[in-house]
Amino acid sequence: MDLGLSGKVAVVMAGSRGLGKASARLLAEEGADLAICSRDPAKVAAAAAEIAAATGRRVLHEALDVTRPEAIIAFAARVGRELGRVDVLVNNGGGPPPGTFDQLDDTAFARATELVLLNAVRTTKAFLPLLRAHGQGGRIITITSAGAREPLPNMILSNALRPAIHGWTKTLAKELGPERITVNCVAPGIVGTERIDELVANNAGRQGRSEAQIRAEMIARIPAGRFGRPEEFAAAVTFLASARASFISGTTIYVDGAQMVSTV
Ligand SMILES: NC(=O)c1ccc[n+]([C@@H]2O[C@H](COP(=O)([O-])OP(=O)(O)OC[C@H]3O[C@@H](n4cnc5c(N)ncnc54)[C@H](OP(=O)(O)O)[C@@H]3O)[C@@H](O)[C@H]2O)c1
Repeated sequence: MDLGLSGKVAVVMAGSRGLGKASARLLAEEGADLAICSRDPAKVAAAAAEIAAATGRRVLHEALDVTRPEAIIAFAARVGRELGRVDVLVNNGGGPPPGTFDQLDDTAFARATELVLLNAVRTTKAFLPLLRAHGQGGRIITITSAGAREPLPNMILSNALRPAIHGWTKTLAKELGPERITVNCVAPGIVGTERIDELVANNAGRQGRSEAQIRAEMIARIPAGRFGRPEEFAAAVTFLASARASFISGTTIYVDGAQMVSTV
């Protein structure tokens, strides 16, 4: 299947490792040039060099924190100057810290709102003019979490804010539909990345149990019998980014190996 990504330009936020990097890599393998960012200058440079070497695509990279709106605006301006267009925007960022309601104060909720909700809003605001400029439609994809539909224990910040992204996505899909810009989410269940390693360690410490026990329990809840692989998650992002997904908008693809129990 030709995904129609050759000659396109994709921006992947928080793309130096994990789900963002895997998505960036697959988009480049399918022929897109890239712009990626993350906070750590060495890591984002290394990821860009690795993807460029493996795919032969152009990979622009920048060190920035997605909670700094002025940095996102400057990144969008640079992408416009240097890559000339944007066809695909993948909104992504680090996950908010774990914790319960009693453990997290007003400041923690405000920070998580910046990282999860306002990150997607500000990034889309900054890049939308570039998605619109060529008049050929576009793709906006936000990485969220299966916790948006089925709340995860000890993850109240994520559970509170991911559904807001889903509501924003559905609304924006309706607003941008006439411009042939689709807007969707891809929600991971448990996909093996450093984020999951950190959450496993946190749960082990909190419960006074071994990381191996925590992992085994998590896997027991996944019918597929294992964590997802980042490239499996990236396949969903890349399909939604493709020309083939032109009538899929305002929805969420869950990549969870059938872990969730909800019917709809
Ligand atoms: N993996 C899963 O199964 C899973 C499940 C549910 C939800 N999610 C969500 O999916 C998203 C990606 O998860 P992941 O597993 O790929 O995480 P990860 O392995 O920890 O990677 C996070 C990426 O985001 C970058 N990043 C973190 N904070 C940033 C910031 N403030 N500004 C710019 N870049 C930032 C990191 O690079 P730097 O450190 O260089 O900034 C890194 O490239 C997160 O929101 C996570 O909560 C993941």
